[in-house]
Amino acid sequence: MNTPLSIVVLISGSGSNLQAIIDEIAAAKINANIAAVISNKADVYGLERAKAANIPTEVIKHEQFDSRESFDAALQKTIDSYQPDLVVLAGFMRILTPAFVQHYLGRMINIHPSLLPAYKGIHTHQRAIDDHVKEHGASVHFVTPELDGGPVIIQAHVPVLPDDTAEELAKRVLKQEHIIYPKVVRWFAERRLRLEDAQIIFDGEKLQQAIKLGG
Ligand code: GAR
Repeated sequence: MNTPLSIVVLISGSGSNLQAIIDEIAAAKINANIAAVISNKADVYGLERAKAANIPTEVIKHEQFDSRESFDAALQKTIDSYQPDLVVLAGFMRILTPAFVQHYLGRMINIHPSLLPAYKGIHTHQRAIDDHVKEHGASVHFVTPELDGGPVIIQAHVPVLPDDTAEELAKRVLKQEHIIYPKVVRWFAERRLRLEDAQIIFDGEKLQQAIKLGG
């Protein structure tokens, strides 16, 4: 058996994706250990979830730094003190500096609530509804310096229903996020997934297109 994958999870909010990963580790479906959960906001529910699972927590408030660079440097120092194999961005709502991203290239992943490259950025659900698209969803991708632009590993497709509100659509997308994010973490723990020359290698082969779930 592989040594357990050491993970640091970064959050800014509710932490339901964090919870999905905690639950699968607890159920021994993922051979990993969450070394720490770091939030850029105090008093978010995700920190309670981490504490309930006996995971060390850290809060690094971005507003206490006078530049993105100094915040990212402090964040990097804290993350690296745990020596993780993988950094998991789970609702971490910060734009990251190129130096920070470069430091974790190939070992940092993000989940984004859209079928990338569609709807990078925020308010993804409302934008999908406003455009009357039939399908929306979520993507897990390697983080590269381009915002929400790194190679996509897996996407969950979710139909947009007539009369959907952004809240209803978000809820259905989130349910799928809780399936695809732990799956990707498990693949890492099984050492089946890596980034090589900007290409995803999955089970020893170049992944030609994102793995698709649903739709
Ligand atoms: C999730 O929907 C995630 O995809 C999104 O924030 C939510 C966090 O929920 N992330 C982004 O928008 C990143 N750009 P959670 O805190 O309950 O996991």
